[in-house]
Amino acid sequence: MSERNWQVYIAHHSKEEDLAEELAKHIREAGYEVVHRGTVMVGESFTEEVSKVLSTGGAVVLCGTSRALGTRWASQIVNAARQQTYGGQTRVFCLQMEEDADVGRLSFDECIALYWQNPAKAIEDLIAALKKHYPVNNTIAHSVYRLLQAPPLPISFVERPEYSNDLKTRLLTESSSDNRALVITAIHGLGSVGKSTLAAALAHDAEIQTCFCDGILWATLGQQPDVLSLLSGWVQALGDYNFKPTSAEAASAHLRTLLYDKAVLLVVDDAWNTKDAQAFNVGGARCQVLVTTREGAIADALKASIYSLDIMTATQAMELLTKNLGREISGKERQSAEKLAEGVGYLPLALELAAAQVTSGTTWTDLLRDIKQEIARLKSLDRPGAKDTTDEASLKRLSLTASLNLSIKRLSPEDKEYFTWLGVLPEDVSMALQYLLC
Ligand SMILES: Nc1ncnc2c1ncn2[C@@H]1O[C@H](COP(=O)(O)OP(=O)(O)OP(=O)(O)O)[C@@H](O)[C@H]1O
Ligand SMILES: [Mg+2]
Repeated sequence: MSERNWQVYIAHHSKEEDLAEELAKHIREAGYEVVHRGTVMVGESFTEEVSKVLSTGGAVVLCGTSRALGTRWASQIVNAARQQTYGGQTRVFCLQMEEDADVGRLSFDECIALYWQNPAKAIEDLIAALKKHYPVNNTIAHSVYRLLQAPPLPISFVERPEYSNDLKTRLLTESSSDNRALVITAIHGLGSVGKSTLAAALAHDAEIQTCFCDGILWATLGQQPDVLSLLSGWVQALGDYNFKPTSAEAASAHLRTLLYDKAVLLVVDDAWNTKDAQAFNVGGARCQVLVTTREGAIADALKASIYSLDIMTATQAMELLTKNLGREISGKERQSAEKLAEGVGYLPLALELAAAQVTSGTTWTDLLRDIKQEIARLKSLDRPGAKDTTDEASLKRLSLTASLNLSIKRLSPEDKEYFTWLGVLPEDVSMALQYLLC
């Protein structure tokens, strides 16, 4: 294998982020770019992440604790690694973290380092094995590592320059100004209109990354965030593994010290109340905060500059449908698709759901008819205010609810049961949409 900047994916249990980061530190020092994500837990999205690393020829380090091996993904990744061979290369390197963690059944020809016996020796063996199979070019590898916590963009991502250009300009110009106060920007809009996706697109922009050269931190709050745990995650992401805060206030104060002279973009996604969001205003003068929220009042209370995000344009909606279907939509079919896009109010999530249904055999016309009927049914429900729903925002909400209801109605009884179980997942678990809909 030639020298290059190899990627190494650390596969670990989502509750063992500390351990993974401890390993990551050593592997990075040896000159590798390390990817690991505590949020990746659900089968499909997890294997997608691993596949990305494997498809570029990278290696997987399995952080083999009993807890991690007790889940089915451990064998999934080993199988994924075996299926994607890269010049007959050893792909998976197992670390046995505890004496009773049975990594042997998964490792076959791969290196096993006995971390539980002697951590320092295990790391040394692991690095030696990695270097043997994946020689590194240290000058490239060190320059590639960057702290980027933003979620990946959807495969069917559609640019929305009418919003992203202004937001990008604001982030870049505020960074170059002499302003000493922490700048806060909020993306405000209806549920599922694309706020988080827009924030992620900004975080993945090369100029934004250059501007915030010390990294991009991301926390998805939701209605009941575990603020202490999210803040602790930021502390560790900034390289401090010794500080164990016992309160959110202590964590915020410590982050202020860590971020004092750093240029970091702090993304506070899906804020539902001002107090929670405020705990993340921990940047120094070179940092900025980007908040996404459905609640305009939160943006006001944070004294943020507000950017209101609305539905997609008809052209963007068609691009989203085309990308989701994975083929061109032309002629008569295009006209039906255009009507459907209008029928679901050009909302990105409703469009994704529609595309999934068309892929599974429903016709555009049937789908549009059913959506209209469902909207009418929802309007006529005997709920206060529902009958005379006329304002634009409520109509958009209705069209989204109708799209969701239809998608759920069409699930098989077995899939409906899986869907019900999804309700137990926390808000920021990433998961492929098609897993939900197929
Ligand atoms: N620009 C886009 N291109 C492709 N897909 C998009 C785009 N924007 C949003 N989507 C899709 O629409 C769905 C909803 O988007 P997103 O989660 O960003 O909405 P949101 O406004 O953050 O919603 P919420 O208020 O619930 O947090 C996602 O599945 C996402 O993949
Ligand atoms: Mg969101």
